[in-house]
Amino acid sequence: MTQDNRKPTTTDAGIPVASDEHSLSVGPDGPIVMHDHYLIEQMANFNRERIPERQPHAKGSGAFGHFEVTEDVSKYTKAAVFQPGTKTDVLIRFSTVAGERGSPDTWRDPRGFSIKFYTSEGNYDMVGNNTPVFFIRDPMKFQHFIRSQKRRADNNLRDHDMQWDFWTLSPESAHQVTWLMGDRGIPKTWRHMNGYSSHTYMWANAQGEKFWVKYHFKTDQGIECLTQEEADRLAGENSDYHMGDLYNAIQRGDYPSWTLYMQVMPFADADTYRLNPFDLTKVWPHDDYPLIKVGKLQLNRNPTDNHAEIEQAAFEPNNLVPGIGISPDKMLIGRVFSYADAHRARLGVNYKQIPVNAPKAPVHSYSKDGAMRIDKVSDPVYAPNSKGGPAADGERYPTDSTWEANGQMVRAPYALRKDDNDYGQANDLINKVMDDAARDRLVNNVVGHVSGGVEEPVLSRVFEYWKNIDAEIGRRIEEGVKANKGL
Ligand code: NDP
Ligand code: HEM
Repeated sequence: MTQDNRKPTTTDAGIPVASDEHSLSVGPDGPIVMHDHYLIEQMANFNRERIPERQPHAKGSGAFGHFEVTEDVSKYTKAAVFQPGTKTDVLIRFSTVAGERGSPDTWRDPRGFSIKFYTSEGNYDMVGNNTPVFFIRDPMKFQHFIRSQKRRADNNLRDHDMQWDFWTLSPESAHQVTWLMGDRGIPKTWRHMNGYSSHTYMWANAQGEKFWVKYHFKTDQGIECLTQEEADRLAGENSDYHMGDLYNAIQRGDYPSWTLYMQVMPFADADTYRLNPFDLTKVWPHDDYPLIKVGKLQLNRNPTDNHAEIEQAAFEPNNLVPGIGISPDKMLIGRVFSYADAHRARLGVNYKQIPVNAPKAPVHSYSKDGAMRIDKVSDPVYAPNSKGGPAADGERYPTDSTWEANGQMVRAPYALRKDDNDYGQANDLINKVMDDAARDRLVNNVVGHVSGGVEEPVLSRVFEYWKNIDAEIGRRIEEGVKANKGL
């Protein structure tokens, strides 16, 4: 210990150092010598502190807590994490989509809602958003969509013309864009918003019966949103407003929680339902599939090292446990590849050994070696083997989250069903869910956004897009934008 009882500073090799302040030099005024390896270690480490930020969802933060099952949904899934009374440790990360790591929290954007459940059967990740739908329905368009929301090549600026160009040429975006331009497009805090799987997933019970499901994490704090004006002010005053709010709430013991409800569709309904139940641009109306309560998620512990525990967290929709599977949603199938690939690029091949990503269940895999491997492997290093190595147990863990698929390989949109169209649910949101004041705010938000840089030929398409959603709202948006632009 030093004289005032603090631990002595050491190098990364644990060797005590003589000074935190002075480089080794030839006399007090002379040059620094090259063998001051402690100075060099400090510089070299600093120069390598930043890792690439996430491509989308770069700005965010999170916390730890637990999920507790309060109801009995064992007739729908055998997943250990959802059995009655089970309590599981979780990590959540909230984020915005398009902004960079230093961008303001209060920009209008969907919010990420990623949960890692450290279950007894391995890690289960539910990588959702605060919206029940998404802008597109084919992963081929995702990269283009994100580029249209980020920055131009020439001036490196964000560009509303580019955003509306993509949206108006992608009419399947209408529902999500309506949602985004409405009140919930800017939550007051991460604590005051819901989280949705958005996608349809599969649950399978112990008897092998299958169900299609959607997750709804409803905030127990109540929904609260910011107006455009409040959000703009906060973006200037405190760009980390949401991050600070979550951290401070947990520090003062005001633990936020969400109640998980599921929509459950019997497996066979999917063939005949009036909408394609796997289309990510649509919700399942609650009247058709009501919410079934499952349990409660609470956050009660802040990270102590944001880089180690949040920036290096790797969420991936392919982390599924027995009793939970994917669905034929093409976006979800694309995501099942994309995230692990992103983690290998961002964090390295052994990212699952970073403590925050490591399961609490034992790992018996045949992966070996690679950069930054920390866990030791042991022989035998291959399977099948007669040397006592791990052996897959297909009887206990069958491949049961499956569905039948057959047909010629094609590049084609989903086949349309009776009630499938791009505008109907956006219209429901405007006319059945919003009140007059919310509709006024929607019109104002769109008028403000479009007036900020959208030009012909995109401009006319914006008016047509909104008139397709709702004739009156479209007329008001056109009138407002033309007045702003003096047209
Ligand atoms: P319901 O009346 O049963 O549900 C309406 C839903 O809208 C509620 O979940 C409510 O959330 C949510 N909501 C309220 N205000 C807004 C807003 N300004 N922006 C976005 N969502 C809001 O109707 P349906 O199930 O028939 O759905 C009608 C429309 O509601 C859909 O077309 C969709 O746009 C929207 N919606 C539907 C959801 C679903 O899963 N069915 C989920 C969320 C939105 P809360 O209860 O938390 O206040
Ligand atoms: C982050 C890809 C659609 C929610 C990411 C990342 C990639 C990606 C590459 C960065 C991952 C990282 O570096 O850690 C895709 C692709 C999609 C898609 C290819 C469609 C084909 C969606 C949808 C949702 C979603 C529909 C929500 C329902 C998120 C969230 C994050 C994220 C919440 C941040 C994860 C975190 O907190 O670390 N996405 N995404 N994405 N995505 Fe997607």
